[in-house]
Amino acid sequence: MQRMKSPKAAIIGAGFIGAVHVDILRRLGVPVAGVLAESVQASQEAARQLGLTKAYSSLEELLDDGEVAVVHDCTPNRWHREYNVRALQAGKHVLSEKPLGMDSREAAEQASAAEAAARRGILAAVNFGYRYYPLVQQMRAMVQRGEIGAVRLVHGTYTQDWLCESTDYNWRVEPELGGKLRALGDIGSHWLDLAQYVTGQQITEVAGDLATLLPRRQKPGREVQTFAGGGQPSHASPGPAPDWVDVRTDDYAAVLFRTEAGAHGNVVISQASPGRKNHLTLEVVGSEATLYWDQEQPNQLWIGRRHRANALLMKDPGLLCPQAGQYVRLPGGHNEGYYDALYHLFRNFYGTLAWQGEGEGGTTLPEQRPAEGEKAAAPGWVGDFPTFAQSYRLALVLEAIWESSQGGHWVKVGA
Ligand SMILES: NC(=O)c1ccc[n+]([C@@H]2O[C@H](COP(=O)([O-])OP(=O)(O)OC[C@H]3O[C@@H](n4cnc5c(N)ncnc54)[C@H](O)[C@@H]3O)[C@@H](O)[C@H]2O)c1
Repeated sequence: MQRMKSPKAAIIGAGFIGAVHVDILRRLGVPVAGVLAESVQASQEAARQLGLTKAYSSLEELLDDGEVAVVHDCTPNRWHREYNVRALQAGKHVLSEKPLGMDSREAAEQASAAEAAARRGILAAVNFGYRYYPLVQQMRAMVQRGEIGAVRLVHGTYTQDWLCESTDYNWRVEPELGGKLRALGDIGSHWLDLAQYVTGQQITEVAGDLATLLPRRQKPGREVQTFAGGGQPSHASPGPAPDWVDVRTDDYAAVLFRTEAGAHGNVVISQASPGRKNHLTLEVVGSEATLYWDQEQPNQLWIGRRHRANALLMKDPGLLCPQAGQYVRLPGGHNEGYYDALYHLFRNFYGTLAWQGEGEGGTTLPEQRPAEGEKAAAPGWVGDFPTFAQSYRLALVLEAIWESSQGGHWVKVGA
């Protein structure tokens, strides 16, 4: 792997989340070399819009760029396997979007490429950013420290409305671009990852019910970006007239599950729930206490107890445990949200790179670089980012849910 004075990032895919990556990298102080989109013209347009110098014309050109140490793969799922594997083989660190490709076979291929790359000191992470909200960290710490007793139940929702009308359309609707699982793969993957991360328990058995609530949709003549509807029919964007097409991917999924430690759980996933914008809720029920967190009210954690008054813990560095305190940037009452959670995932990833010596002399994360001999004293967040191996295991969970929905019975994960 090339060593460079100032490791730079490059972005592939410049839609909704690609722009978020660029913003967060700027906030971290990591320079972004350039961008690759689906065509030369699209790359040039993206570079202009994002204020980047280089518009790559091909993956080869990007991978040959010696300035680039880290590739951020923000493309539709269809491209993750090819881009991530090639980037890792070329010696680039990779921070990829989720889910890891189209299915568990593709996720497995990427996980083995990451394992091989890790032997050369190359890091690979997946952007399951919900893990890194301060109060999610607080929940996790409380579970780990036994403060809620034995975990008995885990349940919640992840519901949205941006695909709830037949005029709403996006590449995710098409199995050829997003995979055969849509709502479940797209947002269900976030919830399932979060539930496993917070409880520290793997999901081992599942039963699923999937439904396509809108079996026909109007496909616009021109690509519509994620969340582009904004409450307006997606086909209001200019372009050729839309066509009616049949839809096979799931708008809705309900999942029952059991964990390795014997906890029971369930979740409802939907991208067709009017009024629900990004409604991710997680409730962890222990023998001594219950914890409830809502992504749309992320700065408060509800703590329920039988023999004491229930409490609402507001995000405040002075009130959180030290582990969660590492994920707070602002004083109490100053709200932190989605961007901040992803910032912390990126901080953990780039901080780990700096910790292991990448970018010596030029890294932009000076406060995180250890002095010689201090490596043993790494802060708790070093190395804490969602890995390709974890994302492969999650792909097996998703596939087991699919299998269960087809056969109408419980399925063991990975069996
Ligand atoms: N972690 C999160 O919270 C989160 C949120 C949204 C999306 N995502 C994930 O990010 C990925 C992208 O989703 P999005 O919502 O940004 O989609 P999007 O449609 O808004 O953007 C995708 C971009 O990729 C570009 N693209 C398409 N084909 C390409 C190719 N072959 N090479 C290079 N670029 C190409 C498109 O031009 C577009 O700009 C998906 O995997 C999705 O699941 C994750």
